[in-house]
Amino acid sequence: MENAVNEKRKVVFSGIQPSGNITLGNYIGALRNFTSFDDADCLYCLADLHTLTVRQVPAELRKRTASLAAIYVACGLDPDKNIIYCQSHVPAHAELAWILNCYTYMGELSRMTQFKDKSQKHADNINAGLFDYPVLMASDILLYQTDLVPVGGDQKQHVEICRDIAQRFNGLYGDVFTIPEPYIPKATAKIMSLSEPTKKMSKSDPEDTFIAVLDKPEDIRRKLKRAVTDSDGEIRYDPENKPGVSNLLTILSVLKKESMEDTVASLSGLGYGALKEAVAEAVIAELSPIQERYNAIIADKDGLSAMLKRNAERAAYLAQKTLRKVYKKVGLYQV
Ligand code: TYM
Repeated sequence: MENAVNEKRKVVFSGIQPSGNITLGNYIGALRNFTSFDDADCLYCLADLHTLTVRQVPAELRKRTASLAAIYVACGLDPDKNIIYCQSHVPAHAELAWILNCYTYMGELSRMTQFKDKSQKHADNINAGLFDYPVLMASDILLYQTDLVPVGGDQKQHVEICRDIAQRFNGLYGDVFTIPEPYIPKATAKIMSLSEPTKKMSKSDPEDTFIAVLDKPEDIRRKLKRAVTDSDGEIRYDPENKPGVSNLLTILSVLKKESMEDTVASLSGLGYGALKEAVAEAVIAELSPIQERYNAIIADKDGLSAMLKRNAERAAYLAQKTLRKVYKKVGLYQV
């Protein structure tokens, strides 16, 4: 990619918080789709500023940020073709967030389901950043004139509020922002917890409820063996009545790139033990080459830092263009 986003190409933007072990849910719901935009200019940030809305251990956060950067590359994102960078390395994100705060209503932010969920989960720390989280996310997206935002289903509401803010701003000042579309393939929108399959698999839940992208094969097998299913014994895709089995079938069909019918047919006459074994083999086959590449990338810390620095400069250049335009439009004095 050139140092500037070519206006004719689509722009794709997404991010992941380096706030825990990156899960199979993050991989299937988001990361895996990041590599599928050949004809677009893609930016993928490590959303480190967002993680501060929940207390982090500083040394852990630093480590997880480097680790997530290495995972991005190990999953097949070429850092010369995709702009992979830390959100905090590009000050324009926080700067635009301030401006957009002044165009976002308390009422709409208080309706965000993630805010309500996280306020319950962290009742002792309902901070202003947690409330304001979607505005920073809108800034991430809007700074780059993004067309498409590949995310899991849980982020849909945040992309929608981003669109609302952008439309409101454009209504006042002309076409400043591109209005982004969410990109959420139905099949992969929500991978469920292994222990409570009516709940989303989440990196902030206990270890045994998720598979991590960096889990060893023996851990993957063990966690899947313990995955909650049901007692009727029939392998059938029925998310409402059989959430555990259906979740395993989803993982299997997505990773094997097969239709759900073919996946179910391939297991005909077999039991849940065989289903779990098949899922474990598919997950291990998918993750092993990623882990191998990851180990090489993470061993070269200097290379990783240099890549992040280079890419933050590319992102900052693009972000400045939008930020300057916004400052001018709202009437901030230019020198
Ligand atoms: P985060 O870090 O919670 O999750 C990263 C991505 O993984 C998706 N995801 C899932 N998809 C399917 N099944 C699951 N169980 C599952 N769990 C997580 C999420 O939907 C997400 O796409 N706010 C974002 C990070 C962010 C961002 C952005 C995203 C910051 N700025 C700008 C897009 C654009 C977040 O916390 O994702």
